[in-house]
Amino acid sequence: MFIFQMPSKIMAGDTCLNRLEEEIQKLGAEKVLVVTDRNLEKAGLVKKVTDNLGQTELILFNECSPDPSTELIQRGTEVIRKRGVNLLIAIGGGSNIDAAKGMSIMAANKGPLTQYEGPEKFPNEPLPIISVPTTAGTGSEITFFAVITDLERDYKFLIWSPRIAPKVAFLDPSMVATAPRTVKIPAGMDALAHAVESYLSKMASPLTEICALKAINLVFRNLRGVLEDKPNLDCLKNMQYAATIAAMSFANAKLGIVHAMALPLSAMYHVPHGVAISILLPHGLEFNRLVRPDKFIQLAQAMKIETQGLSAKEVGKSVVEAVKKLSRDTGAPDRLREVGVKKESFEKMVQDSMKSGHVQVNPRKIEAQDIFNIYQAAY
Ligand SMILES: [Fe+2]
Repeated sequence: MFIFQMPSKIMAGDTCLNRLEEEIQKLGAEKVLVVTDRNLEKAGLVKKVTDNLGQTELILFNECSPDPSTELIQRGTEVIRKRGVNLLIAIGGGSNIDAAKGMSIMAANKGPLTQYEGPEKFPNEPLPIISVPTTAGTGSEITFFAVITDLERDYKFLIWSPRIAPKVAFLDPSMVATAPRTVKIPAGMDALAHAVESYLSKMASPLTEICALKAINLVFRNLRGVLEDKPNLDCLKNMQYAATIAAMSFANAKLGIVHAMALPLSAMYHVPHGVAISILLPHGLEFNRLVRPDKFIQLAQAMKIETQGLSAKEVGKSVVEAVKKLSRDTGAPDRLREVGVKKESFEKMVQDSMKSGHVQVNPRKIEAQDIFNIYQAAY
């Protein structure tokens, strides 16, 4: 048996934000906290959202930063409690949306947040969230987990519950148009990794596999297009769909070795999540390619790789090469040493990776030594 859930409503297209106030009213909210960051405010993206809200009382929380910490979430929660907020609008990439998820839990529960690590640990219903993603990658706009950093332990932990999935996600392509290449590239590679890893996961089901293969195809057809100086609207829309569809897959099937290994890089060295993923993805595929040759044939087809006359082994190799090429073409970094990671941390990085829930669902059994070897190879 399998379970497939997708609790969020998705509103998509270039006029979708016109319907934002209507959705807030449907949720019965009176006081709304806008959870975002100063850069998006300066870029005019926050105004672009709030311009649609004439009748809603808004309170701005613009202190988000990458890798949201328990401290940041505590600050937001204090504002929520003091001002009697009853809905959050998260504007931003995965970090801002995850911060809002943490705040929504803490607004209704005693905490501390670290106590809620893992599946369904908090007792009370969190505040509702509406998400407006400004990157096409993390999928946080519809997923039911939040990745939070515990600065005391240099450790990233995951909270899982369908109750923190945003009630509505607004996918407006113009919200992702102006992000710099340094954001778009890792976000796109992250979406690709979500699709690929969830497709190979031991928890994959026919429903997640359909989503994953479609997302892979969309990334290969559109990622290069969104990096042009004037990206075309279709590419932007398609990358948004790719990220969200990949999220439908990985929210239900989990991920694998690449995500398990990426978390310590961000927790210890603040390597942006998508950058860690771009570096590790070809290595993770190389590690997995011999265990599910059948699935690598499907991956190759989704990537539009010519497979006629190739052995299963060669198909696997060409999938790894195609991902490397996409990463190179977009200019993503491909070595851990380029992003400041030090070899002396490998031992702690291996230990932390092995704690991840993604290790158990990876199609090939993972030993600590395998992870160490991949860090070495990616160095
Ligand atoms: Fe990811």
